[in-house]
Amino acid sequence: AQTSNAAQIFNNNCAACHIGGGNILISQKTLKKEALSQYLENYNSDSIQAIIYQVQNGKNAMPAFKSKLSTQEILEVASYVFQKAEQGW
Ligand code: HEM
Repeated sequence: AQTSNAAQIFNNNCAACHIGGGNILISQKTLKKEALSQYLENYNSDSIQAIIYQVQNGKNAMPAFKSKLSTQEILEVASYVFQKAEQGW
C-alpha cells in the first residue's frame, strides 16, 4: 500500500510517542478526538491551527518541531492528525 507524505512525516516524527494515535508518555493525552477536544487548547474552535501550534512549539515533554519540520510539513501532519482523529484512527 502507498503511504502518503503526511503519513510518512507522522511515522518519522510522531509515532515514537503517538503510535496509533496514542500517547506513551501521558496516557490520557492521546490524539483521539475526545482527548483533543478535552485537553488541547483551542481545538474546539480551530482544530488544525491548534494542532499546528502544539507541533511548532511543543509542550512539556513534547519537543518543538518548528526548527525540524517546514511550515508545509507541519501543516500536512496537522491535517493528517485531524483527519485520523475524525476517523477514529
Ligand atoms: C501531546 C501531536 C510528537 C509527546 C500532543 C498533542 C498533539 C500532539 C496534537 C495534544 C494531545 C492532547 O492534548 O490530547 C504531535 C505531533 C507530533 C508529536 C503531530 C509529531 C510532529 C511527539 C513526540 C513526543 C510527543 C516525538 C515524545 C517525545 C507528547 C506529550 C504530549 C503530547 C508528552 C502531552 C503534552 C502535555 O500536555 O503535557 N502531541 N506530537 N509528541 N505529545 Fe505530541
